[in-house]
Amino acid sequence: MASRNILQLLVMFAIATSAFATLSSTRYYNKVCPKALPTIKAIVKEAVKNETRMAASLLRLHFHDCFVQGCDGSILLDSTATMVSEKEALPNKNSARGFEVIDKIKAKVDEVCGRPVVSCADILAVAARDSVVLLGGSSWDVRLGRKDSTIANATLALFNLPNASLELPSLLQKFEQQGLNAKDLVVLSGGHTLGVSQCRFFRPRIYNDTNINRSYAKKLQGSCPQTVGDGDTNLEDLDSTAKKFDVAYFKDILKNKALLHSDQVLVNNRSTASYVKSYSNDRKAFFNAFGKSMIKMGNIGVLTDDQGEVRSSCRIVNSK
Ligand code: HEM
Repeated sequence: MASRNILQLLVMFAIATSAFATLSSTRYYNKVCPKALPTIKAIVKEAVKNETRMAASLLRLHFHDCFVQGCDGSILLDSTATMVSEKEALPNKNSARGFEVIDKIKAKVDEVCGRPVVSCADILAVAARDSVVLLGGSSWDVRLGRKDSTIANATLALFNLPNASLELPSLLQKFEQQGLNAKDLVVLSGGHTLGVSQCRFFRPRIYNDTNINRSYAKKLQGSCPQTVGDGDTNLEDLDSTAKKFDVAYFKDILKNKALLHSDQVLVNNRSTASYVKSYSNDRKAFFNAFGKSMIKMGNIGVLTDDQGEVRSSCRIVNSK
């Protein structure tokens, strides 16, 4: 009986400490590797110069990392004989991208630091911030010290990551599950101010939805045929200024010109609609809120101290 009580206490302690794991300051790597953050920034800059869209892809990678067992770099792990990669899960497969850029950052950072001290999870968080800043957003402080997981969970990726056909209550629920509220949902959906979507994700919207501007739908139908399988991977911009971090995304929603169903439904209730309206004409408020919500998202389920590890390769767990 006594040993069962001790076991229960230990389990409770483990849960409590993991729930309270907090990140260290933005200066976490300053002593051990002062060149770490400038190196990440330089490689992100180079990658975005090569292809503007990469900024969007890197921002999304951090989001897809954080929503699956926390911001622990789990999305970066490749499949093994005993583990299915999150990359194989429906929301990521042939969709999540930027893995080669993360590999390049990791290799260079480890080289300048002289050994692997910067976690893949931290690289994702910093690269997301640097990407937003490069395309015109304002910066936020990324607290550091995330450790990398030793497991991935493709099933959880399927359940936790929202898809574009969801209605507002389900979107709210998926965010609430992560400790994020209605405001965070609207603000972070504002990430769709950057980047593109494949036809297969917005096809139902442009043929079936009624809350879509008619001429906008018609235009999109030109590049995204109704038949499933035709033009599935054709790309369209997520907002009218997809290479610029701005408030056009919110203005577009108010004109019924959101590309994704999940974006348009943000005006379906009074509370979320009021955020959409206020950000549509207040760039400063949106930028400010975006940083705050990104910090909140970046704190989800982080591993710190002796939890997890700093991987040598972001694709593979360290060997024992
Ligand atoms: C609210 C629920 C969300 C849904 C349903 C959703 C869904 C999607 C879908 C379907 C795509 C297109 C993927 C493709 O074509 O391969 C996409 C792209 C994107 N998403 Fe989301 N997303 C959501 C939230 C977010 C959040 C919170 C962020 C970041 C803070 C984000 C950032 C992005 C970016 C930047 C892209 C463009 C990626 C690129 O061009 O490579 N999304 N999203």
